[in-house]
Amino acid sequence: MDLPKWQDRNSVLNPQRTKRFTLFVVFLFVSVAIIFSLRQYPDSFNKLQWSSTPETVKTNTSVQQITEAYIHNSNQTISSTSPKKPARIIKVTAAYGKGAIIQDEKTKAAVTTRERILQTHIDHANRNGHIQFVQRSDIMGNIMTKIGTVLKVLMDEMAKPEEERSEWIWAHDADMVIMNRMLSLEAFLPPKGKDYNLLVTYDGNGLNIGSFFIKINTWSVYLLSAVLASPQLGQATGSLYPDQDVMGQLIKHNKYFKDKSVEIPLRWVNAYPETWSSNAFRKGDLLVHCIWISKKDLPYYLDKSESLNPDLNTLPSLSGLETNITKFWHGSLPLEQLS
Ligand SMILES: *[C@@H]1O[C@H](CO)[C@@H](O)[C@H](O)[C@H]1NC(C)=O
Ligand SMILES: *[C@@H]1O[C@H](CO)[C@@H](O)[C@H](O)[C@H]1NC(C)=O
Ligand SMILES: *[C@@H]1O[C@H](CO)[C@@H](O)[C@H](O)[C@H]1NC(C)=O
Repeated sequence: MDLPKWQDRNSVLNPQRTKRFTLFVVFLFVSVAIIFSLRQYPDSFNKLQWSSTPETVKTNTSVQQITEAYIHNSNQTISSTSPKKPARIIKVTAAYGKGAIIQDEKTKAAVTTRERILQTHIDHANRNGHIQFVQRSDIMGNIMTKIGTVLKVLMDEMAKPEEERSEWIWAHDADMVIMNRMLSLEAFLPPKGKDYNLLVTYDGNGLNIGSFFIKINTWSVYLLSAVLASPQLGQATGSLYPDQDVMGQLIKHNKYFKDKSVEIPLRWVNAYPETWSSNAFRKGDLLVHCIWISKKDLPYYLDKSESLNPDLNTLPSLSGLETNITKFWHGSLPLEQLS
C-alpha cells in the first residue's frame, strides 16, 4: 500500500530532508573551521612566513609570493580589547628579488641570506614593540624604491587619526644584520625639546641613507617627495645614488629641510664590519651594515646574531650606551668621540 504524500515528505529517510541535514552539517563544519583558522591567523602567519628554522628554498615560496607585509608584535595583535595603542616606531625596509643563497651548516638546507637577515629584524621588532614593514616588490622599478616605500608607509600613517599614528619610521637597508636584539630603537630618539624630523649618519663618502629615522609628519612627506622627483627635475643627473645624493643636498642647502635634520653617530644605527678601519662594529652595537663590498661577511654576522650571545645583546641602560646617548643630545659628548 502506498503511503500518503504528506507522510512521505516528513519521513526521516526522506531524501530531501537528509540532503538538507547534510548541508547543515557541512555548513556548521565549515563555519567552525573558518572561525578557528581566523583565531589562529597571527600565529600561523608568523610561523609560515618567518619560521626561524631554515626552509628549503623553492622557486615559489610563500615568502616570495607576498607582495608586502606589516609584521606586528603578536602580543599587540592579539590584545584587541585594549584601546589601539600604536607602536612608536615602524621599521621599514624593501627586500625583493631572489636574494643571495648560501648553505646552512646545521640543516644543510639552502636558505636565502635575505630571509635570515629579515628574521633578525622581525625578532628585534617583536622584542621591542616596533612594527616591521617589508616591501616585497620593486615599486619604483629603480633605486628610488626605498624612498617610495618609506613614503608609502608615511602616508598610510598620515591617513590615520592622530592618536593612532606611529611617531617615527626607521628606514633600513636589507643588508643590515641586527646584532643587539635588546636595543630598542627608542633609545636613539631625540629627547623632548630637540625638535628634529630627520636623524641621519655620514661616512667618508658623505650622507649614508642605509639607515635613517624620519618623523611621521608633512615635513617628511615634502622631503621624500622632493627626493623621489629629483631625477625628473634634472637635479640628480648622472648620480649613481640619486636618492642619497639629493637628500644630502637638500638637508645641506635648503633651510627648511636643514633646520630639522641632525647627524647622529654612525655606529649607533649603521656600523660597518669589524674589518673596516673606521666606524667598525663593536659589541653592544645595534647592527652591522654589510654594504656591497662586505656581502661576503653576511654569513659570519648572521651566525653570530642567531647565536643570541648575551655579550652582544646588551641593554643600553647597563652598557653605558644610554648615558652616552643622553650626553650626546645635551651636547656634552661630541659626535667625534662616538664614532
Ligand atoms: C611560480 O610563480 C609564477 C608567478 O606567480 C608562476 O608563473 C609559475 O608558474 C610558478 N611556478 C611554480 C613551479 O609553481
Ligand atoms: C608577549 O607577552 C608575554 C607576557 O606579557 C611575554 O612573556 C612575551 O615575551 C611576549 N612576547 C613577545 C613576542 O613580545
Ligand atoms: C661612551 O662614550 C665613551 C666616550 O666616547 C666611549 O669610550 C664608550 O665606549 C662609549 N660607550 C658605549 C657603550 O658606547
